[in-house]
Amino acid sequence: MEKETARLLLREFSPDDFEDVHAYSSDYETVKHMMFGPNTPEQTRDYLEKQCPEERDASPRMHYNFAIQRRDTGRVIGGVSLHLNWRRDDAVLGAVLNRHETGKGFMTEAMRGILALAFEELGLHRVHAVCDVENSAIIRVMEKCGLWREGRMLRRGKARPEAKEPYFDQFGYAILKEKWQANQEETKRGGKEYEA
Ligand SMILES: CC(C)(COP(=O)(O)OP(=O)(O)OC[C@H]1O[C@@H](n2cnc3c(N)ncnc32)[C@H](O)[C@@H]1OP(=O)(O)O)[C@@H](O)C(=O)NCCC(=O)NCCS
Repeated sequence: MEKETARLLLREFSPDDFEDVHAYSSDYETVKHMMFGPNTPEQTRDYLEKQCPEERDASPRMHYNFAIQRRDTGRVIGGVSLHLNWRRDDAVLGAVLNRHETGKGFMTEAMRGILALAFEELGLHRVHAVCDVENSAIIRVMEKCGLWREGRMLRRGKARPEAKEPYFDQFGYAILKEKWQANQEETKRGGKEYEA
């Protein structure tokens, strides 16, 4: 499964992506809001090997991790993921980008691409995400992609060991298929970007 957008290709990871994936997954500043890392080379290798074929060929498939590849340079600059619930009608979204590639609208483009996959190809009825209330960049990206803030979850996130407090607050965001479809129609009609 893959999806092309204006500047990106969302595709399955391959073990050959090691150098590009390790560049961001070993970088503390990039992964400090994530549940993993900074990775050792072995951890990045294990991650890539687990994708293919262990998760890809699982039946039913529950985890979709896509490499974000720039179409101009061919480099993998990050990843977006969907982890499905047991009914396979809702998924939690994940996103990470090499920090040298941030601020260029790439994640907004990749997230719109993965939402299209979620609703058009996988037939989900809902996609949601949770994030640190301090993570303004991903909040902005999600709102640009039409996700709605559903609420604030107190002390839900487990902080990294070096943090002052052991837990942090998270926002829950979500988008329903019908909202996503309405946004697509709106974009077609007005030819402009939609927001929440
Ligand atoms: C969050 C992340 C995915 C954003 O990727 P990106 O490609 O830079 O995102 P985009 O360029 O598409 O959009 C970023 C938006 O956030 C805004 N933004 C960036 N930093 C911001 C900040 N500190 N405060 C407020 N807004 C901010 C940008 O201005 C832009 O909005 P705009 O288009 O209205 O100007 C990337 O920074 C990242 O991977 N961070 C580390 C991992 C992470 O936090 N993942 C999410 C875990 S829940």
